[in-house]
Amino acid sequence: MCGIVGYSGKKNAAPVLLEGLRRLEYRGYDSAGIAINTKKGIRSVKVKGKVAGLEEKLLEKPVVGSCGIAHTRWATHGKPSVRNAHPFRYNSFAIVHNGIIENWKTLKDDLIKAGYNFTSDTDTEVALICFCALFEKTQSIGKAILQLVKMLKGAYAFLIIDEQNPSTIIGVKNGNPLVVGKNADDIIAASDLTALLSFTNRAFFLEDRQFFVAGDGNIDFYNFEGGKISNTPVDVKWNQEEAKKGGYKHYLLKEIMEQPAALTRALAGRVDNLLFDELKNRITPKGRIICIACGTSYNAALCFKYFINMLSGVSVTVEFASEFRYQPHDLSADSLVIALSQSGETSDTKEALLRAKNSGAHTIAIVNSWESSIARAADETIYMNIGQEISVASTKAYTAEVALLYLVALRIASERGAAAEKIDAWKQKIKEVPKIQSNYLENSGSVEDIAKKYYKKKNFFYIGRGIGYPVAIEGALKLKELSYMHAECYASGEMKHGPISLIDSEFPTIAVAPPGGLRDKLFSNVSEIKSRMGQVILVSDSMLAGCDFIKMPKIDAWLSPFVYILPLQLFSYYAANLLGNDVDQPRNLAKSVTVE
Ligand code: AGP
Ligand code: GLU
Repeated sequence: MCGIVGYSGKKNAAPVLLEGLRRLEYRGYDSAGIAINTKKGIRSVKVKGKVAGLEEKLLEKPVVGSCGIAHTRWATHGKPSVRNAHPFRYNSFAIVHNGIIENWKTLKDDLIKAGYNFTSDTDTEVALICFCALFEKTQSIGKAILQLVKMLKGAYAFLIIDEQNPSTIIGVKNGNPLVVGKNADDIIAASDLTALLSFTNRAFFLEDRQFFVAGDGNIDFYNFEGGKISNTPVDVKWNQEEAKKGGYKHYLLKEIMEQPAALTRALAGRVDNLLFDELKNRITPKGRIICIACGTSYNAALCFKYFINMLSGVSVTVEFASEFRYQPHDLSADSLVIALSQSGETSDTKEALLRAKNSGAHTIAIVNSWESSIARAADETIYMNIGQEISVASTKAYTAEVALLYLVALRIASERGAAAEKIDAWKQKIKEVPKIQSNYLENSGSVEDIAKKYYKKKNFFYIGRGIGYPVAIEGALKLKELSYMHAECYASGEMKHGPISLIDSEFPTIAVAPPGGLRDKLFSNVSEIKSRMGQVILVSDSMLAGCDFIKMPKIDAWLSPFVYILPLQLFSYYAANLLGNDVDQPRNLAKSVTVE
C-alpha cells in the first residue's frame, strides 16, 4: 500500500505534497514524510502517524523548494516509527516507495559487506542504497535504474529526487501503481489519480517495467530495456466534489447513505440491455465460472454464487485471490474468470487475474477506480461508476458489485435460454432497489439504539441461511473492521456443530433473516441460541419473541444484499463511533492493498 507523491514545478512543493498525501492517506497512515530539494540541498521531515502530524511539524519548521517527494506509509518491513518513515536519503538522492522488495535481505547483506550503512529496517532503504552504489559506478541515473531493476525482486513504485538535478523527479514502476500528470507549470506524480486532480485531468499511466524522468515541464518515458517510449495521456472523468464529505460526520456514513444514488449510477443504462455496452459478445463460457476477490469484494461474489445458482442452476466457484493465485487450477479458454475490486489495485486480485489470463481464460473485471491496474489488465471491464469510495471500510462498492454481478447472472441466464418474462421480472425488481434503499435509510433510527445497547460487547456471532448467509458474512467483516470487536459468521445450521458452545448471556448473535423457505429453519436456530441464554438481534421483516428487532421492509429475499446489509453497515458504524474509533481509517487497515 503506501501513498507516494512527487512534485516539480513553479509552486512551493510542501503544500502541494501535503495536499497529495491527504488524498492518499487512505492507503496507509503508519507514518508520513516529505523530502524537498531546497537551496541548501535535500531537507526531509518525518513523523510517526498521520499526515496531520507532518503538517504540524512543517509549520514549525518549513522546508522551501519547488521539487520534492512525500509518503504516507503502511508498514511491511520495519515497525511504524520515524526511523522507518520514508523518504530515505543517501548521498545526493532521496526515495519514497510503495511495495515490497522481496530479495532485500540478500541485497542488504551484500551491501553491508561492501561497506554501506543502513539507518532503517526497511526494504526501501536497501533499494535506495543499491541504486546509489550503481550510480557511483555508472555516474548515470538512467544506467543505474536499468541495472537496479535487474537486481530487484518484488513489486514497487518509486519516486526519487536528486540534489544534483534539483528539478528532476524519477518514477519507476513494476507491480505497484504510478501515474504522472502535467500542466503548463507543474508536474505531479502519485500512486493514484486523486492526488493529481487539482492540477490536471490528463494523466499518463505507466505500465509495469517502465520509468519516467521528469522536470522543467518535460516528462520522458522509458522501458526497463532502456528504450525511450511514447505515452499518450488519458482524460480523467472523476471530479473532486465526489471526494468530499458532503455534510456527513464521516466519509463512511456518507458512503452508506449515498448507496441509493450510487446504485442508480451503477445500474444506469445497464439493466435493460444487461451490460451490453461493456460485454458485447456472449459471456456464458463452455466451462467453469470463477470469481476472484478479497475481503468485501469476495463477500459480494458469494451473493452472486447463490443468485446465479437459484436463477439458472449454474455453479460458480468463489476463491480468495490470495489463495487462487498459488493453487493448481484447470482453467482454459473455456473458462470465465470474474475479478472484483473496488480499488482495482489489490495485488492479490491483480496477480490472480493475470494468472487466469495467462491460462487463456476469458477475464472480466468489475472495478470502481478508473484506469486502475485490474481494470487495465482484464479482457473486459465493467466500471461501478459510483464515485470514489474514501472510507477504508467498503460499503457502496459492495452493493454496486452485487448489483453488477446480478446483471451478469441475468445475462448468463438469458444466454442460456431463460424465459424473457422471467428475466424482465428480475430487471424490474433490480430497478426498484435504490428506492427501497432510500425508504429504509430514511427510517433506520432503531439501529443506533441497538448499537447503544450492544457496543460494549466483546464478541458477536452473525448467522444467516441462503442468501442471508453471505450478507451476514459481510456484516461481520464490517463490525470487525470498524469496531475491533470479534465478530464471526456462520451458516446458522452450523451453529449446533460447534460454535453454539460459546453462547452465553454475554455473547450476542445477529440473525439475518430475510423472508423465504429457509427462514423458519433459521428461526429454529435462533430458538436454540435463546434457549442457551444468548441475546439475539433479529434483522427481519418478521418479529420473534425475546429478540431485539431491526425491522426490515417486506422485500424479495434475493434483494437482501442491497437492503439487509444497510442496518449491518450502520450498526458497525454506530458501534465504532460510540467506541471512539477512527471510523474512516480503522487501525491496521488500508484502502488499497497493494502488497501480498
Ligand atoms: C473492505 O471493507 C475492506 N477494507 C477490504 O476487505 C477490501 O474489501 C479488500 O481489501 C478488497 O479491496 P478491493 O475491493 O479494492 O480489491
Ligand atoms: N516496504 C515498504 C515499507 O515497509 C513500503 C510498504 C508499502 O508500500 O506498503 O516501508
